[in-house]
Amino acid sequence: MSRQNAAGVAHEPLTDQLLYNAFPAKDPFPLYAQLRETNPVAWCETGDLGGGPFWVLSRHAEVMAVSTDPATFCSGSGIITFEVGSHYDDPPTMMHTDPPAHTRYRNLVQPAFGRRMVRTLEASTRDAARLLVDALPLDAPVDIVPPLSVPLPVQVIAQLLGLPESQWDRVWEWSEASIPGTEIYNDAERKNALNAEMYTELLRLVEVARETPGDDVISLLAGIELDGDRLSNEELRMFLNQLLVAGNETTRNTISGGLVAFAQHPEQWDRLRADRSLVNTAVEEILRWTTAVIYFVRTATRDTELGGQKIGAGEALMMLYASANRDEAEFGPTADQFDIGRTPNHHVAFGFGVHFCLGAALARLEVAAVLDALLDRGVTRLELAGEVGVSASNIIAGVTEAPMILHTT
Ligand code: HEM
Repeated sequence: MSRQNAAGVAHEPLTDQLLYNAFPAKDPFPLYAQLRETNPVAWCETGDLGGGPFWVLSRHAEVMAVSTDPATFCSGSGIITFEVGSHYDDPPTMMHTDPPAHTRYRNLVQPAFGRRMVRTLEASTRDAARLLVDALPLDAPVDIVPPLSVPLPVQVIAQLLGLPESQWDRVWEWSEASIPGTEIYNDAERKNALNAEMYTELLRLVEVARETPGDDVISLLAGIELDGDRLSNEELRMFLNQLLVAGNETTRNTISGGLVAFAQHPEQWDRLRADRSLVNTAVEEILRWTTAVIYFVRTATRDTELGGQKIGAGEALMMLYASANRDEAEFGPTADQFDIGRTPNHHVAFGFGVHFCLGAALARLEVAAVLDALLDRGVTRLELAGEVGVSASNIIAGVTEAPMILHTT
């Protein structure tokens, strides 16, 4: 079925197969550029991605407009395509809630994610990054994903939650079991067993924290009370599970994708070596360039209009962050270049508005810690030593293998 835009011009719908094929397993950016140019609010028919149909928003402006108006574009009917049209009595994450329920969650959990938390974790995060980087072989091929990108976010989240070192491997498996498309997720029996184990363990830790609170996030969250309101055990479990997932895959792929970007743009590594003050802008550019979360979805709560297109109540909209982050209208003629000095850099890798990523400061710290550790180790150049593996996920821009040589001469 073709749709008309506000000017009465009909356009043929995208098929989600087309969109799916363009996700990172292939090269999506030419299609994204074409969409921004010719069809920025594009209708996509249902198909392999499931749950459709939905609108695809490829420009920064519409992604921002939707992100900042949760009353018109809600999260409660699902945030990934195969959830579209869902209704949740018990939302699986706070990302699936809208104000006022979301505001309550955010007010309750925000204190645990403030500057104090990042200050508390800064030294241990930098130590963890340094230990992992120092163990990497130099001047010889190494796939940096297993020894660096995988363990760092796991260790940081485990510390954040106060989980003992003996459980770090489990943290990784629990996270994989919650991400659609991973090998573990696709093995239903293993996934269910890991989910059950994770829930039991998290609730046990909540009970321990209520008895003998420490200064970890579980204790903070278990103890928080605002005007007599507090998180129930079920809400705590849901939220802790979300932290495991939200903070793990995303940061892992940002680290891998960032180092691949430096290998592909050696002049940018030279620039960073020459001027360490660029670390923070480099982190922002890595976030923009890699855009670990490819999209999230919202659903229109009423008839409205967006980018000249009529949107009907109940229709879903895919905010294509990966495309918005390459939008020339926002980032200018260099939008398609990896530029570690880019300022301003209003990327939407962490989303925007009320759901803006709660772990943004922590993720930024982890990426900066990796860059600093590599610079301190005297890495002069990163060179790809084989093909970069990308996951078939259409939600997370996953880097499965990143073989490279860390040169020191
Ligand atoms: C580079 C790494 C990361 C990326 C790219 C990322 C991306 C995102 C995005 C796009 C959202 C918006 C969701 C929406 O609008 O529906 C989000 C929300 C969230 N993120 Fe992250 N994230 C990262 C790291 C982390 C970390 C390290 C944590 C926690 C330790 C975390 C916890 C959360 C939580 C709890 C939310 C939900 C906030 C809400 O609904 O109000 N994230 N993240």
